[in-house]
This record gives sequence, C-alpha cells and structure tokens, in this order.
Amino acid sequence: MKVSVKSKKCKESEGLIVSLFEDSLEIKNPEIKKMVEYLSKNEKFLGKSGEVYNYTREVEGKIQDVILLGLGKEDKCTLEGIKVNLSKAYKKAKELKVNDLVVRMIVTDKFDVCERAKAMTVSLVLSDYKFDKYKSSNKEEKEVLVSLSGCSIDNSKLDSIKEAVKEGENIAEGIIIARDLVNEPANVMYPEVLANSVTKLGQEYGFQVEVLGKEKIEELGMEAFLTVGKGSIREPKLIVMRYFGDDSNKENVTGLVGKGLTFDAGGYSLKPTASMDTMKSDMGGAAAVVGTMALIAKRGLKVNVVSVVAACENMISGGAYKPGDIIGSMQGTTIEVLNTDAEGRLTLADAVTYIQEKENVKEVIDLATLTGAALVALGDTTTAILSNNDKFFNEIEEASLKCGEKLWRLPAFDEYRELIKSDIADIKNIGGRYAGTITAGLFIEKFIKEGTSWIHMDIAGTAWTDSPKPYKAKGGTGIPVNTLYELLKKRSSK
Ligand code: BES
Ligand code: MN
Ligand code: ZN
Repeated sequence: MKVSVKSKKCKESEGLIVSLFEDSLEIKNPEIKKMVEYLSKNEKFLGKSGEVYNYTREVEGKIQDVILLGLGKEDKCTLEGIKVNLSKAYKKAKELKVNDLVVRMIVTDKFDVCERAKAMTVSLVLSDYKFDKYKSSNKEEKEVLVSLSGCSIDNSKLDSIKEAVKEGENIAEGIIIARDLVNEPANVMYPEVLANSVTKLGQEYGFQVEVLGKEKIEELGMEAFLTVGKGSIREPKLIVMRYFGDDSNKENVTGLVGKGLTFDAGGYSLKPTASMDTMKSDMGGAAAVVGTMALIAKRGLKVNVVSVVAACENMISGGAYKPGDIIGSMQGTTIEVLNTDAEGRLTLADAVTYIQEKENVKEVIDLATLTGAALVALGDTTTAILSNNDKFFNEIEEASLKCGEKLWRLPAFDEYRELIKSDIADIKNIGGRYAGTITAGLFIEKFIKEGTSWIHMDIAGTAWTDSPKPYKAKGGTGIPVNTLYELLKKRSSK
C-alpha cells in the first residue's frame, strides 16, 4: 500500500472514507451532509464507535463508494480507537474492491494533525497485511492507493503531515518485518535461516549483524542456551545486532534481548498437540527485536542499541536434555531443570549475561513469549512487565500509551523469589503452579547485574492472535515493535 497526502479534497477516487464523531456528525460537503442527516434521522448511521455504513454516489459522472465510519464520542477518542475503527472502514473498502481510496482526515482538536495522520497510516498499512505466500491460489493483487485528504489539511502543514505519514509507514514496515518472521513456519525458519534473514535485513536497513555458531557459543560458556538446543538437528545461532546512531554518546547503549525459539515442542516435558501447533511463534521476541532494529535504523534515530537473539529449537531426541538435569550457565549460576518446557528462561539467562558482559549495555529490555500464565493473567491484549527500575518502567509505559500497545506491570515481591530456589542447585527453572509469569521473569532477573536497569516483557499473550482483529491479521502481531520505537525515539530527541 502506498499512502499519499493531498491538501485539497480529491473527489474522483473509487472510494471515500469519511469518519464522523457521534456527537457532531460534522461534514462540509453539502451532498454528504444531506445524506448523513437523513441517515441519522432514520437511525441508519449514528456515528457510534466502529459503525460502518456505505452507499454509492455520482461525482462528476463517476460512481464512488462512500464509506461512513463512526468514531463514537469525541471526548472518548484515543489514537488506538482511531486505528481500530479506521481498520473496520478499510475492511469495507476492500470488500467493495476499492483500489483507489481517499480517506478524509479525521477532524478533532484532541490530537495534533500529525499524530492523527501517523495513527491513520499505521492502521491502514497494517490492515492491508496478510501472510499468503504459501497459498497456490494467491494471485497478484493490485496495490491499493490511499490518500489522506480533506479541508483540515492546510498547505502550511502539508510537509509535516507528509513526514508523519512517512513515519507511520516506517513503523508499519517494522511491525510487518516482525509479523513475517513469526508467520514463517518452523520447517522453513530455523535458527540458521533466521540468522541469514537478519543479516540480510541488516544490510538493507543499516545495522550491523554478527552471527556466532555452536563453537563460538561453547567458547563463551553459554551452557544454558546450548542445553536447550541439544535435541535439535538444527545448529543454534547467537545473533548479535548493533546500531550506533549516536556517536557522541558511545557509552550509552540500550540492550534488547529477544527470545528466539524457532520452535518449542516442550522437549521431554512434551507439549500436548493443541498447545504445540502455534509454537513457530516462540521467536516472537526475536522477531520484534529485529523489526525494531530495522525501524530505528531506517528512521536514523540518534540512539545506540545492541540486540541479541539466542536462536534454537526445543525438541526431543536421544541427545536432548531431561527433567532433573543440572546445568551451568555463562554467568556461573547452576540450574536444576525440572521442566524442559520452561526453556525460554534458560536461553534468555545466557543472552542477558552475554549482552551485559560482552556488549557493555547498562540497560536491558528482554522480550519473550515466555509463559502461558501471562495469557491466563492478562489475556491476549496486554503484555506483562517486570522491572527493577521504576523510572525505566515509567518510560516504557509512556511509550506504550503513545501507540496503544497495552502493558501492565506485575509485582516482584521477595516471596516470589523464594519459589525458584533449588535444594540441589542455585536455582530451578520452574516455580510451581502459581504466579508463573512472575517466577519466570524473576528467573531472568537472577542474571541481571547490580546496576543494570531491566525491563522484562512477557509477550506470550500478545505476540500472536488466533483470530483476526482490527489491523491485526491472524498470526504474528508484531507487538511490541511500536512501543520500543516510541521509547527509543523519545531518547533520540533528547
Ligand atoms: N513458549 C512457551 C510459552 C507460551 C505459551 C507462549 C503459550 C505462547 C503461548 C514457554 O516456553 C512454555 O512452554 N512455558 C511453560 C512454562 C511452564 C513449564 C513453567 C508454560 O507456560 O506452560
Ligand atoms: Mn516451552
Ligand atoms: Zn517456549
């Protein structure tokens, strides 16, 4: 999809989306105004949030599909609401086979015109996303041409609105990179292939990529990571990505760590079939990290970021690790493995150690599809957070509010740390039936050095959707690329 911006009303498109607030239903065009008055009088269209009504009209001898979209009450309007609702109108336009679409700029004082343009663009581009490369019947579809236009776009602001649309397109692109990586099946996307894809993206977008194979990983002493991958015939890869956009501040480096299980069968603590069929998505953290790297490089943010993915597969075989095994780690801590399906934390333990020891980062954000318990606690809308630093948490919360990717912090009381103490090793990799998301996060905390600011994001519920949602097709969602981008962008402008 290509999104452009026009300052004047362009009448001659195949389709037109007009978004209206329930309390005002305000529109200048006399003809559409008359129609809206008629429809509201007859309770056919009231402008309620998410309401979509379409009809055809004739403009200068051509037939046009007009799609009216309700935005609800203006004072309740959020950027996320705009994205969700606009996606519904866009779906209608697709249904009507509109290939050339004008979207009237949403008019409200609640958000600056650039913020509106950015949110609208992100929604439109993401609504158009689908993963259909393996469908034999997939015929080349025409690219949809979209223009934002309307009287509220005045010429003096045209350039900044165009820039906001560009930013929106870039954000959507970063999110789509993450979605594509997740949606690729595990027979295709195994560690080596992931590493090659990342290398390619690094060349294309402008970040450096280093891939370490099994021997190098052994030399580094990453026993916990290597142990998880032992059951697979696919070699594990440690993927390191570096982007230095702020030369004046070379000491100031943010570390991102993404869980990169290209498949999680559970190992000998084998998953039941119904829980296994989506486990190609267990590299959702890695995918989001890669999408973020591409996005910040493309935007040229003045920040320094190093990202690490410990990519492997959790499988069964004669060489696989077993419940009861005691293993070491790069940090030296010994781990009693009581459940081989709690593998993500083992790979992350070594990945966060590596990034602190070898890449000298002072702050770390890890993102991981880590626990089914996150889905139980917060559902599929909200990412679970643990953090050892209030200020850092406030920053990521603010960033998430900017883009509508919801998150919520869980408590980290000492009682929870008791639950992962082991009788025969330093710690164990499960903490019992309760508070599973917290004990998993606190396991990783054991590998965070004193003085490192740390945020843990459990995206097990949010990185994947089983059913289509507005602007999120079934499959990988690309969460939390947008949040990480907003966080780093805020740093960049300082
Ligand atoms: N990758 C899974 C977590 C997961 C579950 C992600 C559902 C996405 C959707 C993780 O490796 C796992 O298996 N976790 C176990 C931990 C348990 C054994 C302590 C879980 O959640 O059951
Ligand atoms: Mn698992
Ligand atoms: Zn897993």
